[in-house]
Amino acid sequence: MTISRRLFTQAGLSTGALLAVNPSYSALETQLIQRHIPSSGEAIPVIGVGTNRYGVGDDQNARTTLKEALKKFHELGGTLIDTAPTYGSSEMVLGDLIKDLGIQKDLFLASKVDSKNLAANTAGYEQSFARFNTQQFDLMQVHNFKDWQNSLALLQDKKAAGEIRYIGMTTHMPSQYELMEQAIKQQGLDFIQVNLSLANQRTSSEQLIPMAADQGVAVLINRPFGGGGVFSKLGKTSLPSWSVEFDCESWGQFLLKYVLSQPGVTATIPGMTKVRHVVDNIKGGIGMMPSIALRKRQEQFFDDL
Ligand SMILES: NC(=O)c1ccc[n+]([C@@H]2O[C@H](COP(=O)([O-])OP(=O)(O)OC[C@H]3O[C@@H](n4cnc5c(N)ncnc54)[C@H](OP(=O)(O)O)[C@@H]3O)[C@@H](O)[C@H]2O)c1
Repeated sequence: MTISRRLFTQAGLSTGALLAVNPSYSALETQLIQRHIPSSGEAIPVIGVGTNRYGVGDDQNARTTLKEALKKFHELGGTLIDTAPTYGSSEMVLGDLIKDLGIQKDLFLASKVDSKNLAANTAGYEQSFARFNTQQFDLMQVHNFKDWQNSLALLQDKKAAGEIRYIGMTTHMPSQYELMEQAIKQQGLDFIQVNLSLANQRTSSEQLIPMAADQGVAVLINRPFGGGGVFSKLGKTSLPSWSVEFDCESWGQFLLKYVLSQPGVTATIPGMTKVRHVVDNIKGGIGMMPSIALRKRQEQFFDDL
């Protein structure tokens, strides 16, 4: 993947100059970072895409916009896509777009079971496979602990049968963190998915994410922008000059690099439906990440706004 070197030149440094200052800089610094799934060692890119806004039904104009965004995401090295049967028509739309673009073989596809009982979850599970015309999902997750014991047992059976490569559980609610901690300890999960955002929700970084990391469970971060409302506030403010210390040129990257620098985080799945957001956000997974000290500085800066 080739990415523009604007990050470096905006910081007033060419790649050559960076190499002279720090020989550990290499061509790799222009590539989307990959991290390993602890249970297998498989690498996935740190920036994925969340698709709860992809449920546009038959609206052809909206589908065209999404198709362009997805095409760009794939061109820039993105593979991880998160969806769910309850995201309106998202699975259906995605299935069509992925087929049109011919990119399915390159993807790491994640969906969820998210109904209230086993019969509905089994039906939803089968429907997800049909919508993507696939024999195997990379990751299937129990959504927000819905009927979670039955749902997890279903997914464990399906994983044993080879229909799913990895299983996980998701939440975006601090009230479910304790339950998530128990699941991490007891249920042999490959992944958890949880919210973390500099904008409005940081508590998952205190105990839950470190515990997942200790137990060898991969961590996906949902809602890295806290849902996105924060951008209207940030739009009126300039990025602090020290953002260049972690190769950051936009508020999107500021927020993404905050979550990706949290120890234990494997990848994040920002919602993005526009090409310009895809291009911006992919750069959030490239180059330097904030140190612990810079993360603290980000928090302070944000809280003082
Ligand atoms: N419990 C769960 O399992 C759970 C719960 C919530 C979410 N999720 C997952 O997490 C994903 C992300 O959550 P989310 O979409 O609600 O919230 P989010 O990722 O925090 O925010 C998405 C919003 O930010 C905007 N945006 C994206 N990149 C931007 C940029 N560079 N500059 C300015 N604005 C930008 C998007 O706009 P555009 O759309 O216009 O590009 C969208 O409005 C979901 O799609 C879903 O897959 C899972």
